[in-house]
Amino acid sequence: MTVLVLSGSTPADCPEDFHAKLVRAAHAAGVSVIVDTSGPGLLRAARAGADWVKPNAEELNELFEHKDLFEHEDLIASAGELVRAGASNVLVSRGEDGMVLVDRTGPRSSARLERVLQGNPTGAGDASVAALARCLAANSQSDEAARLPDEDVRTILTEAVALSASAVLMPKRGRSTPIGRN
Ligand SMILES: Nc1ncnc2c1ncn2[C@@H]1O[C@H](COP(=O)(O)OP(=O)(O)OP(=O)(O)O)[C@@H](O)[C@H]1O
Ligand SMILES: [Mg+2]
Repeated sequence: MTVLVLSGSTPADCPEDFHAKLVRAAHAAGVSVIVDTSGPGLLRAARAGADWVKPNAEELNELFEHKDLFEHEDLIASAGELVRAGASNVLVSRGEDGMVLVDRTGPRSSARLERVLQGNPTGAGDASVAALARCLAANSQSDEAARLPDEDVRTILTEAVALSASAVLMPKRGRSTPIGRN
C-alpha cells in the first residue's frame, strides 16, 4: 500500500481546503492518507475521508467539548466524532497513557508501555505516525473499506507505542550522527 502523511501545523495563510484537497488527490491516485494536524484542518481532513487521523487528547478537546477528555469514555466519544465526520480510523495518542484505536465499528483496542519513561516527549507523536505509516506501507492489502483485522490492529498499536517510546528516550529531538565526507 502507498501512504501519504500530512503532518504538522499549517501557516495562517494556508488555503482552508489544503488537507481536504490533498486527501482527495491521494485517493484519486490510490494512495492512503494519514493526517496529523490540529484544529479545523483536522476536521476538514476527516470530512474529506482521511484513512487515518492521529490526534492527541488536547487536539480532540479543542475540537469537541466532551466533559473530560482524560476520561476514557469521553475520549472514545470524541474519536467517534472524527469517524462520524468521515475518517476511517482514529489513532488517539495520550502521552504516557499510550494510544487508542477507534474505527467505524467503534473502539478496537488500546496499548501503552508498561512503565512511564523519563525523557523528551516532543516528537513522540510524530514517531507514532511514522510507525503507523510503516505498518500500512508493509501491508499488501489495499481495501481501505474493509475492517482492519485484529492482528493488524495489534501490530499497529505495538509498533506505534514502541517507536514513540524510543523517541521519548532521545534527549534531543531530531538528533543525527554526522557522517564523514568522501
Ligand atoms: N513519558 C512517556 N513514556 C512512555 N511513552 C510515552 C511517553 N510520552 C509519550 N509516549 C508515547 O508516545 C505517544 C505519542 O505521544 P503524545 O501523545 O505526547 O503525542 P503528541 O502530543 O502528538 O506529540 P508531538 O506532537 O510532540 O509529536 C504516546 O501515545 C505514547 O505511546
Ligand atoms: Mg502531535
